[in-house]
Amino acid sequence: KARCRTAEEEDVKKGLMQEEGSLLSSEMPPLVQHQNFWVSPKLFKSMQLVQEEFVPRADDIILATYPKCGTTWLKALAFAITNRSRHMLAHHPLLTRHPQDTVPFLELPNRRIQPLAELEAISSLRLLATHLPFPLLPASVTAVGSRVVYMCRDPKDVFVSKWHFENRMSEKLFIELGLSFHLFCEGISVCGPIWNHYLEYWNESKARPDKVLFLKYEEMMSDPVKQVKRLAEFLGAPFTDTEERSGVVDEVVKLCSFEHLTSLKVNSTGVADLIGGFPMENSTYFRRGKVGDWENHLSAEMAQQLDSIVEEKLKGCGLTF
Ligand code: A3P
Repeated sequence: KARCRTAEEEDVKKGLMQEEGSLLSSEMPPLVQHQNFWVSPKLFKSMQLVQEEFVPRADDIILATYPKCGTTWLKALAFAITNRSRHMLAHHPLLTRHPQDTVPFLELPNRRIQPLAELEAISSLRLLATHLPFPLLPASVTAVGSRVVYMCRDPKDVFVSKWHFENRMSEKLFIELGLSFHLFCEGISVCGPIWNHYLEYWNESKARPDKVLFLKYEEMMSDPVKQVKRLAEFLGAPFTDTEERSGVVDEVVKLCSFEHLTSLKVNSTGVADLIGGFPMENSTYFRRGKVGDWENHLSAEMAQQLDSIVEEKLKGCGLTF
């Protein structure tokens, strides 16, 4: 589709050229700012395609996260909940398929040509995933009434998880923790600032609670049964009394638990391109799966610095960590 580029898109184009060069020179890929969020040039192009060509459906369910907030877990849970009548636990697809592979992303770093045809081909009720900030999703998602499940996490743990993940993405690329932390605190990270990512979905969940469910990783960890029941209700697939009595909720929780998923061969061995453009070891999506692992990586001063930034940015909205 030919159309004039805005100055912002020109910057993105330059960034894309730099990005391709930078991968060769082993520097950090540059990010560009778009509507107050930072995206890589490739992600920007993919987001444009999503905005122009993605056709949401009223019964779509979009699993939205800032990266490293528990996307893999949420994908596994939503897939297990919505497909539970079709799959016996003994032969469940999650025993042989990586959770990332069960729910496709809307945007992909390498989705350039024929981008969304494969999503069109999925029959309703579609489970889709995104890391895009709410304002960068197509407005039609809200207009048609697609449901969104959002999961957030203590930003300190997100930062640590992200730092590990990014350093495994490329053997050539090593990002020093202090520099990465500094940028994160400045709000400069893919799809960041993280606080704005949280805030936009949080506000949306308050304005349209029937359409946007807001979950916290920490609450999922501390009471998974309660949160999984909440999730199932929102997804329109509540557990029946009989299911509850016969332990189906516990089985879903166990099937998708960190301990169980990491014990499976499909998640602990092999390399695959599960998120588009980045062949990675399947195990990369599972590291420690703990609340508070930041304590092993951040000093008390760093923790306090990030806490106070997040507190200030979220002040008055009701979301705390
Ligand atoms: P850590 O790096 O802190 O261990 P995402 O899926 O959004 O990429 O997030 C990855 C984080 O979620 C990693 O955190 C990973 O270990 C954790 N995770 C993956 N599967 C999980 C599960 N089933 N339960 C809890 N945490 C999980």
